[in-house]
Amino acid sequence: MNHFELRGGELHCEDVPLARIAAEVGTPVYVYSSATLERHYTVLRDALLAAGLRDPLIAFAVKANSNVAVLRTLGRLGAGADVVSEGEIRRALAAGIPAERIVFSGVGKTEAEVAFALEAGVAEINVESEPELHLVNAVAQGMGKRAEVAIRVNPDVEAGGHAKISTGKAENKFGVSFAEAERLYANASNMAGVRPVGVACHIGSQISDLAPMDAAFRKMRGLVERLRAEGLSVERLDLGGGLGVPYFNQPEPPSPEAYAQMIARAMEGLDIQFAFEPGRMIAANAGVLVAQVLHVNRRPEGRNFLVLDAAMNDLLRPAMYDAYHDIRPMKPREGEPVVYDVVGPVCETGDTFTRDRALPPIEGGDLIAFMSAGAYGAAMASEYNSRLLAPEVLVRGAEYAVVRPRPTYDDMLERERPAPWLTA
Ligand code: LLP
Repeated sequence: MNHFELRGGELHCEDVPLARIAAEVGTPVYVYSSATLERHYTVLRDALLAAGLRDPLIAFAVKANSNVAVLRTLGRLGAGADVVSEGEIRRALAAGIPAERIVFSGVGKTEAEVAFALEAGVAEINVESEPELHLVNAVAQGMGKRAEVAIRVNPDVEAGGHAKISTGKAENKFGVSFAEAERLYANASNMAGVRPVGVACHIGSQISDLAPMDAAFRKMRGLVERLRAEGLSVERLDLGGGLGVPYFNQPEPPSPEAYAQMIARAMEGLDIQFAFEPGRMIAANAGVLVAQVLHVNRRPEGRNFLVLDAAMNDLLRPAMYDAYHDIRPMKPREGEPVVYDVVGPVCETGDTFTRDRALPPIEGGDLIAFMSAGAYGAAMASEYNSRLLAPEVLVRGAEYAVVRPRPTYDDMLERERPAPWLTA
């Protein structure tokens, strides 16, 4: 469920007409609903608690939406943060998320990032390889600290989803095998600079089938039991990202309740603290990208191109993953649906949001919204073609705030410096 709906023939975000935001802030613009973010977080938390999971840490995957106001909205409800860079740690801290609820993941942490994370006092560093374990150990020792680490395991399950975002197969770059995890965990327990506190996994994103998760989680449980049988202490089990979301009339993904029940069954009798790193299931349907139709290019050969003021630099998912985003006119016009190709102004064919999409009739100047753009939308945006980053707006009831303004062209140019030999 989300809080974007037609009221009086006009698309609203909560109590604010999106056309009002477009008029006042300009387009393209990302708009997020606080009520939807809050609802998705609380539904997941309540489902995990109802399934009897003790004190779960829900660390929102900051990569999905790194806007500080979004993070603060979730942090106030008790969310932690799953981060993959120093920048994301800084964002989580800036949002008021306490370091003890921050989990630092990622395959390529630099020495400086590890030092920063330890200085900040993050709860856990998810170690993805043997060299990284040695790096964390050395950095922590140099600082006179002992880093709490989890070993990230690659559970080697096929989970479907797009090839570019599947992570749980042995051929992917993430994590270590079960056998290696056992060896590393035992080694880590003898290192002065680290203390192994748990194991972690993540099998991929946009997964809408519980079976591969169940299989992976049961393997993780087996690992916890083997480690404990060797006399090692394992306090935390991090089960990675969340469920997929429906981007259109796909079969509904499993409910958070079904997900939580599946975990409770797989983990029955295991006394451990669970951690989760959901991004998409919390943020995707809490955000839209609003764009204006610059013109309708009706080709004699029969194709109708809707040329928008938004482009692949604003919302990369269709170009990168052939992702489908529902497109809704702000004020749907009467009439038979028309088949459109929806494109942006960037100079490459890949700047196509969709082809052959039947939509209500649309005219130049109309506003449209890309639905489900709250996760991996603004976070993946760039300035390609020297286009300004789209601003971000957070709605709460009848109010809204511009939580990241559109930069100016001066802002863009002022970041650069002349080379001395080019100034003479
Ligand atoms: N934890 C780890 C270690 C991850 O790698 C990811 C996502 C997550 C958690 C969050 O997964 P989620 O709950 O959002 O499914 N840009 C792509 C998605 C890339 C996901 C990468 N890792 C997209 O737009 O679909």
